[in-house]
Amino acid sequence: MKARGLMLAGAIAFSAAACVQAAPNVQHGEQVYVRCMACHALAYNRVGPHHCGLFGRLAGSVPGFDYSLAMKKSKIVWNEKTLDLFLKNPQKMVPGTAMTYAGVPDPTDRADLIAYLKQATNPDSPQCRK
Ligand code: HEC
Repeated sequence: MKARGLMLAGAIAFSAAACVQAAPNVQHGEQVYVRCMACHALAYNRVGPHHCGLFGRLAGSVPGFDYSLAMKKSKIVWNEKTLDLFLKNPQKMVPGTAMTYAGVPDPTDRADLIAYLKQATNPDSPQCRK
């Protein structure tokens, strides 16, 4: 009886965790992106390069943006996985990067932010369409 209860609790905990992973909160991600807007915009370069078209883009490849050598040489292609690693700790993933930002330590904040970025940086999104 006790074991069954434990198994049930485990199953509930598992499905709750799976649910959190399956459904990132894009609206919350947009709020997290406000931190990035100190230096970035979606559609144009500022202190940092523009983010439209980010997914599938080679790091350091926006024409006319003055990247660090570290970023240009990194050979990273931006996707959910590489963004998660970079945004967790930019200097750790790209030592010498000019992005002087500590990163987004909270995994849920990062997942929501990346889900927002995936929608907002799509070349067909309202912010990126020309
Ligand atoms: C203090 C200014 C600053 C902040 C804040 C900042 N960035 Fe950056 N970001 C930069 C700079 C500068 C670069 C170029 C880095 C280089 O050349 O090494 C960059 C580069 C990047 C790149 C690589 C882009 C490419 O074209 O290869 C990504 C992705 C990125 N930033 C995402 C973010 C996100 C998401 C946030 C918010 C969580 C953020 N940045 C916050 C300044 C900033």
